Amino acid sequence: MERDAAKLAPSILAADFARLGEQVAEAERAGADRIHVDVMDGHFVPNLSMGAPIVKSLRRITQVPLEIRLMISDPDFFLDEFVEAGSDSFLVHWEGNHNLDRTVRRIKELGKRAGVVINPATPVAVLEEILPKVDQVMIMTVNPGFGHQHFLHHTLSKVERIREMIEQSHARCEVEVDGGVGEETAPLASAAGANVLVAGSSIFGNSAGVVTAMNRLRAAVGRAK
Ligand code: DX5
Repeated sequence: MERDAAKLAPSILAADFARLGEQVAEAERAGADRIHVDVMDGHFVPNLSMGAPIVKSLRRITQVPLEIRLMISDPDFFLDEFVEAGSDSFLVHWEGNHNLDRTVRRIKELGKRAGVVINPATPVAVLEEILPKVDQVMIMTVNPGFGHQHFLHHTLSKVERIREMIEQSHARCEVEVDGGVGEETAPLASAAGANVLVAGSSIFGNSAGVVTAMNRLRAAVGRAK
């Protein structure tokens, strides 16, 4: 089934925080489909990153949708604050979220898009019940918590399986990948069925600059067709 070209979601985890507004503006000029914000609390993942104040600042300088990935122990507790800050969508993990259905319902009640994330060792099958209720599924292609990791190629079969599940269930949700996405791996993920690519270091860590990096990613995916 022909699918639209993959959307690009630059992840600001890899940005230069001394120039964050400037780099997000470059990503917007390069046609970023959304800005991916990795929120980490040092408990759910062994790293700390950023909170709602960053979203509030970015909301002032960009119209691009802000996609918030909550790698935190109690996502429900922080939803209101991130909505107030200007978030457009939320990605919450299946792992450690004992009331995922309630969390997804709450996000939708707040009028935001909801997505669910699974880590590399989590089978796609766990998503069967929640799939019809979410706008996107994210297949982690690294273990969460850090940028600049190597793409785990064994996760590609999970992308293929979730794409099949979506097509069989006639669910209407996006398939997103995150972690180690670059010029070599973006085409693989797209060919497997991903239509949203989160990329941090291959965009913000690219010496050629944000715009060139994003154009190269798109070209790499285009060549895979
Ligand atoms: C991991 C993070 C990273 C980041 C992108 O939890 O979510 O995947 O967004 O990292 P790289 O630099 O691999 O694109």
